[in-house]
Amino acid sequence: MEVNRISINGKTVQLGQPYRAQTSELVGRDREMKKILAAWMGSAGDITLSPLLVGGPGMGKNRLVYECARVCAKELYIFQGHEDVSAEDLICAVRFSDDRERQMDYIMSPIVTAMIRGGICFIDEIAKIRPRALAPLASLLDERRYIDSIILGERIYAHPGFRLVGATNTIDLQQNQLPDFIQSRMRPVITVEFPGRAEIDAIVTSRFHSLNSRSRPLLDKYWNLWAERYGDHPPTPRDSIYIFGYAHKLADFESAGSDRPLVLDGSVKAAPITEAHIARAMEAFFKPTDKRSA
Ligand SMILES: Nc1ncnc2c1ncn2[C@@H]1O[C@H](COP(=O)(O)OP(=O)(O)O)[C@@H](O)[C@H]1O
Ligand SMILES: [Mg+2]
Repeated sequence: MEVNRISINGKTVQLGQPYRAQTSELVGRDREMKKILAAWMGSAGDITLSPLLVGGPGMGKNRLVYECARVCAKELYIFQGHEDVSAEDLICAVRFSDDRERQMDYIMSPIVTAMIRGGICFIDEIAKIRPRALAPLASLLDERRYIDSIILGERIYAHPGFRLVGATNTIDLQQNQLPDFIQSRMRPVITVEFPGRAEIDAIVTSRFHSLNSRSRPLLDKYWNLWAERYGDHPPTPRDSIYIFGYAHKLADFESAGSDRPLVLDGSVKAAPITEAHIARAMEAFFKPTDKRSA
């Protein structure tokens, strides 16, 4: 792991690592992308906005953020929200140093790293974070654009290029409600809805090139099986990718036969999948009694 250190008022601090997403094609989502990118535009005399993405799991919120970071050619730093996050976790952690020259290492969070580097910070699952832990974000998200760190004993100002976006699952937002001081600063709220059938088909075919000309009957089979189970309730991109992915794995496993040792690393040629593989993957993933909520 490359370690990136800088100095803040004579204190050496360690920065976080950017996430470099693989750039497979993003299907659709033009409307959502436009909203995010417009919010980030730095019009003169104005503050930049920090949008909040809201949608069910597997809908494509992360993928959307990766694409926005790519379009802006900016580094992306991801902070994963959860119930145990403390206010200081959002900013900086301290630990005993492995380096004998120093006693302690200050480790900057993904948020502060993005602030320093002028990158994009993505706070995922933000509604899982307890309200009082979110307090340091108040000053960051308005025109002050700074964060105070008690551990570091410093006020850190955001680079002009810094941008932020949050995401939450719809259910978490209903159950936990973001505190008003965050909700009022995270605008616009952008809902990430189910993609249509044509988009799901394009997501699957762009991910699994080996389907080639056989994709139509296999996708039709998938949609029929899906409708048998869930009626009008559509699949998410993740549901669809996982089912086609598992169907491919079932085909590869079968074609390996009794070869031993079994080669797991994908270096063998992919075996063609059939409608039966799709049916078995569906069965393995979802029980007939599975109920889905929108
Ligand atoms: N519009 C899209 N185009 C291509 N792939 C997508 C799209 N939306 C989602 N995916 C893929 O679906 C999967 C789930 O998306 P993800 O962004 O992780 O969802 P979320 O963050 O909403 O839970 C990922 O593998 C992602 O790459
Ligand atoms: Mg996600």
